[in-house]
Amino acid sequence: EEAEKGGYDHFMLKEIHEQPRAIRDTLKGRISHAGDKVILDEIKMTTKEIQNIKRIVITACGTAYHAGLVGKYIIEQLVRIPVEVDIASEFRYRDPLIDEETLVVVVSQSGETADTLAALREARRRGARVVAITNVIASSVAREADDIIYTWAGPEISVASTKAYTTQLVAIYLLALYLAQERNTLAAGNIKEILNELKAIYSKAQEVLDGEQPIKDFAEKYCKHEDAFFIGRGLDYAVALEGSLKLKEISYIHAEAYAAGELKHGTLALIVENIPVIALATQQSLFEKMVSNIKEVKARDASVIALAMEGHTEVEKVADQVIYIPKTHQVLAPIITVIPLQLLAYYISVYRGCDVDKPRNLAKSVTVE
Ligand code: G6P
Repeated sequence: EEAEKGGYDHFMLKEIHEQPRAIRDTLKGRISHAGDKVILDEIKMTTKEIQNIKRIVITACGTAYHAGLVGKYIIEQLVRIPVEVDIASEFRYRDPLIDEETLVVVVSQSGETADTLAALREARRRGARVVAITNVIASSVAREADDIIYTWAGPEISVASTKAYTTQLVAIYLLALYLAQERNTLAAGNIKEILNELKAIYSKAQEVLDGEQPIKDFAEKYCKHEDAFFIGRGLDYAVALEGSLKLKEISYIHAEAYAAGELKHGTLALIVENIPVIALATQQSLFEKMVSNIKEVKARDASVIALAMEGHTEVEKVADQVIYIPKTHQVLAPIITVIPLQLLAYYISVYRGCDVDKPRNLAKSVTVE
């Protein structure tokens, strides 16, 4: 097992560090030479069939569900099709509104999660076309879907998912851009611009990994706390949910993620002196709003660590500490924003002496209901 960890203390840390490679592999061969088109030969739908899609439903469990939440924002923004995201165990028990004009996207690292597989079957039974995003070749999900986009993350051993999530995001971006291309919902220049940034994202992921020291320091300082809050707006809210899940599952800290605009409707009552608040402020269009939300929690003496894109130094005036992520297109920010959150959860778990790779009560793949 030690050899398999490749010199890292835990599989999770190894897998966090594999992300630049995994992202690059997932992109490989899927962007045209000229950098202006997505090539997704694995999607067998005709342009006409793609143009006939009226709704998209994304369904998954756990971290894959969180990737789906990012997908909703991205697809709605780039493709202008209504997208619903549902937890697989909820979707299949509520007589879902699915028909031949619905595209169902199933996301599953293992391709074996019982509820996700059952949701896939339910969707197909109702006539929907199913695209699977999975990491395991010939898994059940891959065998039963109409189209498969593989994530080339490689085997993920740690129960807490990291490289599977970032590569699921990459697959979702490729799918969204492909649909936009086939439905003509984005100017060619815009597609090229986003693809250009996507090609560079793995090296930015590496930059984030290289700058881990402040995150490690924050982890050491706050590892004794029993509660933590994650706040964000838009795409940052979706990433906040994933950051909060990472922290709770491996450190057993009670962690909650909230849409920052929702704070006033309850959560603010729990913000007390010194409570760690991780504030995600990478979205340029929502930056000012996030600065106000950070002020709100600071006014209750919370300890705020903010994540912002390079250059947005204004946040330093309101947060206790700022982690900068390299500049990228704001729609792509989740791929790199999640990395400091993975590292934070990892180091807090280590400082608390938890079993990082095998958290209590959890399994890597939930193949029973
Ligand atoms: C379990 C794992 C999670 C994973 C979820 C969905 O809860 O611990 O890491 O996100 O299942 O798994 P899947 O293989 O379907 O992505």
